Amino acid sequence: MNNLISAILFSVAQATCPITSSHTLAYLSDTTAGVTSETVGWANDYFTWLGTATGTTFSAIGLTATNIQTDCNLSSFPNLRTFFMPGGNAYTMQKTLGSAGKTNILGFLNRDQTNPSAYVGICAGGYYAAMGYYWETELFDINTVGAAGDNYQNFLNYVQGVHYEGPITDIRDEQYSFGLPPGWFRVVNTSNSQIMVYFGGATWNMNQVAAANDGLTHPVLYFNDFWGNKNLGNNMPAAWLYRTSTSSPYRAFLSSVHPEADNTGGYVQPGTVPQNNIYQNYAWLTHYVNNVSSTNYPTPATTLTPIINENPPHSTGLTANCYTTNVLFCDDFEIPTGSPIGLMYQWNRNMWDGYDDSVTWEYVQPWNVTYVSGPGHSGAGFASNFNTPSTGGGFNMIPASIMTAPVTTASTTNTLTYYYRLNRFGTGFLQVSVSYNGGAYTQLAKYTTNSLSWTKATFTLTANQPNTVVKFSCTTGSTSISYYCNIDDISISHT
Ligand SMILES: *[C@@H]1O[C@H](CO)[C@@H](O)[C@H](O)[C@H]1NC(C)=O
Ligand SMILES: *[C@@H]1O[C@H](CO)[C@@H](O)[C@H](O)[C@H]1NC(C)=O
Ligand SMILES: *[C@@H]1O[C@H](CO)[C@@H](O)[C@H](O)[C@H]1NC(C)=O
Ligand SMILES: *[C@@H]1O[C@H](CO)[C@@H](O)[C@H](O)[C@H]1NC(C)=O
Repeated sequence: MNNLISAILFSVAQATCPITSSHTLAYLSDTTAGVTSETVGWANDYFTWLGTATGTTFSAIGLTATNIQTDCNLSSFPNLRTFFMPGGNAYTMQKTLGSAGKTNILGFLNRDQTNPSAYVGICAGGYYAAMGYYWETELFDINTVGAAGDNYQNFLNYVQGVHYEGPITDIRDEQYSFGLPPGWFRVVNTSNSQIMVYFGGATWNMNQVAAANDGLTHPVLYFNDFWGNKNLGNNMPAAWLYRTSTSSPYRAFLSSVHPEADNTGGYVQPGTVPQNNIYQNYAWLTHYVNNVSSTNYPTPATTLTPIINENPPHSTGLTANCYTTNVLFCDDFEIPTGSPIGLMYQWNRNMWDGYDDSVTWEYVQPWNVTYVSGPGHSGAGFASNFNTPSTGGGFNMIPASIMTAPVTTASTTNTLTYYYRLNRFGTGFLQVSVSYNGGAYTQLAKYTTNSLSWTKATFTLTANQPNTVVKFSCTTGSTSISYYCNIDDISISHT
């Protein structure tokens, strides 16, 4: 390319980039690129509020996907300090911004820090910053090759090699279409004694993803109303900071909750969060925008002072009542002592892994690992498999499985005990199998004869085995809910 043509192209490109030297924050405002009119509206309202503070230099500019892909070289604006990614759909963000958008944002974040540059990602903006995510039980990341040309390779991967997970299934079970009222969002109590909107954002310590213990990630807020997985950690983060090395400042703020949300946009109804709490959340968010961007934006005065408190709320996790001496794993499907009413679904699911071996999306959850109304073998709760048909087609002959959380068996005698009931049709069955240390599952039992009253089963498991997992698989052989596999009072214990 000769110099004249490149000079013309350069000036055209600069002319179409809306960023000027007065802008200090840029954000994706293009609703074709994974953000929504609600989340862009929330961001706009927050930026407008922040821009009204006395003496501020803060100024925000919305960008289209094309601006980010081709028009603007983000790292060429020395006064631009923050790239802000609102919520929406992280899959669409990475697909639409593609590798050009990813390269531009990473170039900005990795530029010479004489002009510091930071990433603020809310909800989907948090998932997008990672290598990928577990969407409940399913993994999507930069190595995933999806069906029908779906690509996942352009997650930002700024939080390198790390997966996040979500959504919190108590609020909305996306994968199995099992939503609890009030549906998509909920106002949650956060560990700093504020209240914020949750809309499906990323977290860890929930089911699949343990905290990265490398000094790069620093939680600043936790969910107060939800426990983490007792095997991964007791607390689930609601917001955290990230840095690329332990000798660098934190340069990313990622939030599962929406501190920037107000009661506009249609999802979150007027009056959902009182206005003074919204301003308190704005001020809290600004503290962390300043932290990662090395800025010092003042905020307008707020009636409620933002609470900077980064302490985790739970010192212990919830434990089922059936955990007694020498019990390695148990679930009696009853509500443990001390647990908050109505918030048991996620806690209970955390003890289990995998729901369906082969069918993934848009199906009714095949194993109802929750407190099904009894009578169970003991108490009211038990786990139930109904092979309910879905609008996408039945899966009645495909076994659905649940697996116990992994345990290490003792050097003495290890006993698996459970109670089951079976009412199967045709070729339906309930199968129980075990895997040691990542090996193949071997069958312990396969029931094909109906047993309508609770029946006890006991097996001796191999001693000294790390990563021992017991799997219960069922197909009822029918789409009628008259047919079922039930299990209750499962325990792995040792002498
Ligand atoms: C973007 O701007 C930076 C800083 O001015 C410069 O180093 C870099 O080469 C530019 N990138 C492109 C693709 O033009
Ligand atoms: C938040 O905490 C208050 C006080 O403990 C409680 O009454 C309320 O139900 C909690 N909110 C949610 C959404 O759990
Ligand atoms: C940002 O917040 C973290 C966590 O509280 C703190 O360790 C760090 O010193 C803060 N950085 C700045 C620049 O204020
Ligand atoms: C699962 O159990 C819950 C609680 O008893 C119940 O409300 C829900 O309908 C059940 N879902 C299915 C698919 O069986």
